[in-house]
Amino acid sequence: MIGHGLILRGGTVMDGSGRSGFRADVAIDDDRIAAVGDLSGRVADTDIDVTGRVVAPGFIDVHTHDDRMVRDAGDMTPKVSQGVTTVVAGNCGISLAPLVAGERPMEPFDLIGLQDDFRYPTYQALFDELDRAPAACNAAFLVGHATLRLAAMDDVLRPATGLEIETMKGALDEAMAAGAIGLSTGLEYPPARCCETAEVVELASRAAAAGGVYATHMRSYAGEAKEAFDEAVHIGRKADIPVIVSHFHCHEHDNPELAGEALSWFERSRRQGVRIIADAYPYEASSTSILPEFVERRTRVLVTWSKPHPDMDGRYLDEIADDWDVDVLTAARRLAPGGAIYFGRDERNVERLMAHPDILIGSDGIPLAPHPHPRLWGTFPHVLGHYVREIGLTGLEAAIHRMTGASAEWFGLEGRGRVAAGAWADIVVFDPAAIAARATYMDPEQPSAGIGHVFVNGIEVWNDGGHTGRRPGRIVGRKKNGGSRS
Ligand code: ZN
Ligand code: CU
Repeated sequence: MIGHGLILRGGTVMDGSGRSGFRADVAIDDDRIAAVGDLSGRVADTDIDVTGRVVAPGFIDVHTHDDRMVRDAGDMTPKVSQGVTTVVAGNCGISLAPLVAGERPMEPFDLIGLQDDFRYPTYQALFDELDRAPAACNAAFLVGHATLRLAAMDDVLRPATGLEIETMKGALDEAMAAGAIGLSTGLEYPPARCCETAEVVELASRAAAAGGVYATHMRSYAGEAKEAFDEAVHIGRKADIPVIVSHFHCHEHDNPELAGEALSWFERSRRQGVRIIADAYPYEASSTSILPEFVERRTRVLVTWSKPHPDMDGRYLDEIADDWDVDVLTAARRLAPGGAIYFGRDERNVERLMAHPDILIGSDGIPLAPHPHPRLWGTFPHVLGHYVREIGLTGLEAAIHRMTGASAEWFGLEGRGRVAAGAWADIVVFDPAAIAARATYMDPEQPSAGIGHVFVNGIEVWNDGGHTGRRPGRIVGRKKNGGSRS
């Protein structure tokens, strides 16, 4: 009789491809899925009855700022507690490597670390440290354009010179060879705002030559969103690289027609031969550093952290300004460096994004904040509990596809994002009737409901509400051999 290490028996498999769920048993041997089907004739060292539950690929959080959490808080509880088994770090142009910071890096670097966190002359140096102390889930890393700029330029508030671009290319080549999966930009943020499109094309071409992707926080998500999107398309075409537009949305207050039509841009560009898609998170508020120009545009602002005024974490900016008897901009300046949640999007726009086949799910969570946006802990169960089950925006299989199979394909994570014989055993078992986010704006650090078991590379990391303490995560990447460096 054939024997396996583990068999999950009697669940409904939603395999990540988007096709309908089907009843099947799933066998795991070591770090791989060994078989999917009727395995009643087989035995296992461990049997788990998952009747009534969904067995899906572990979720891939394609947009994170988890660089430092992977290194310093490797239990990854905010992620594995919601069924996430792989995170993509290094988004929005900022990554921990390759950079040795000589002073406190400017905003928005504070989203991922303070000066001594940026201590890696090469990406290999960071990977060596991560290999010595693995995290509970897998991680893939993008190379931040602003990080490259800060390392190569004495002043980032201007376009780079030809020589500086050459230096950046060298650093990017090293990172890609070490196992990074592509380039990210944050063109709306100060350290990249002054760059010319040609600079990004040159770097993206290098990432493309190494098989990478291009993820971009565009120059604008407001009035100039269309121009910004066109720039991303141009970069994709010139560099011949797949483009992922980060945390896609349009600020409808600035440009109401845009929000309605924006989602059609993707399909149209793809028909013209550009590989382009987007990620988004399921909440009506955004979150980033405290920046006066962001404060000005938003209706309500909730402070997530403040270095000079830590007692203000979790309070509203207008109330703080009242207490201090100053206007909100002055209050914002006093609170920086810090972070904030910005309200002021239209929920209908969020629903459009969550229903759309061109939107991958990424949390954009910021783990450093003492009072984080609830997207850090709640993104995936919030989509499946609220947008799928409660309001029926899209089917469960289709939503899971945009968290797993499609995500792995777009980011080049081979052997991940599907439940099939031979794939890596990254699996989440959840109760479709109970899955829900519990994290809220006022109480954001809450594990989700309905997550039964989470396996990473065949090892259980989460079991019915509790962490197992195991850390089987790997650095996964663009290389063949199953998408893993190890
Ligand atoms: Zn961003
Ligand atoms: Cu981001």
